[in-house]
Amino acid sequence: MFYDNHNFEGLKFFSEIKTHPTVAKPCEKFLDIIKQLKTPPTQRNIVVAEIGLGYGATALQVLKLLDAGDMYCGFDFEDKVKDLTDDLQARDFGIKCQVVLSGNSRNQWDSYNWNLSELIFRMREQKLAGIFDAVYLDGAHTLLHDGLAVCLLKELIKGGGYLILDDLFWSYSTSTIEKGLGWDKFMSKEQADDKQIFRVQELFLTNDSNWERLSSPKEWRGIFRKRLH
Ligand SMILES: C[S@@+](CC[C@H](N)C(=O)[O-])C[C@H]1O[C@@H](n2cnc3c(N)ncnc32)[C@H](O)[C@@H]1O
Repeated sequence: MFYDNHNFEGLKFFSEIKTHPTVAKPCEKFLDIIKQLKTPPTQRNIVVAEIGLGYGATALQVLKLLDAGDMYCGFDFEDKVKDLTDDLQARDFGIKCQVVLSGNSRNQWDSYNWNLSELIFRMREQKLAGIFDAVYLDGAHTLLHDGLAVCLLKELIKGGGYLILDDLFWSYSTSTIEKGLGWDKFMSKEQADDKQIFRVQELFLTNDSNWERLSSPKEWRGIFRKRLH
């Protein structure tokens, strides 16, 4: 496993990487895009976002890649954001960039979408045409949450910026990790069987001429780039 040689003893958040194999590997595509943005001649200060932190497998590698002029924005439940904040304060990982973490409650209808919507209002006040250079969406994996997240992110991503959708072909009913979490109380069997991130992609990105698809249709991750006008 990617983090086998890492010692996270004494850290509440990162130590969970060892016990959750499904979220123990960083998203290489996200790292590749960030490396590309940080390589001459495109090299510049960038702002990137990860929606859904898991236990920081991707976040830690992203944070290590970014420079002092860069910013990492992470979104998840507020208790997870607190645990990550505590770990980053408890140990020096050699992180140079600015880290901005936004948490939401675990109340039933709450999600990262609230914080993303707040960000849009602040962005509009500042008359900016986008904030993020690259976003990795890896959150709830439902049409309900991630359909709205993609709509919000389409405005928050700068022209020329990237959006990665994870788990295009994942479904609740076939997932081993979601078993026993009671998804049957929240969605129909048809919805649990559906690949909801693929549905989101087809609804909001595939036919949008402002977005170019960079990934092949069969790839597990959908990679899109917002066209420059
Ligand atoms: C698959 S994990 C993310 C893995 C992470 N991106 C990585 O690469 O290691 C999904 C994350 O989405 C978060 N999430 C799911 N539903 C959410 C909601 N309604 N509000 C905030 N975060 C949510 C979960 O807490 C979890 O951390």
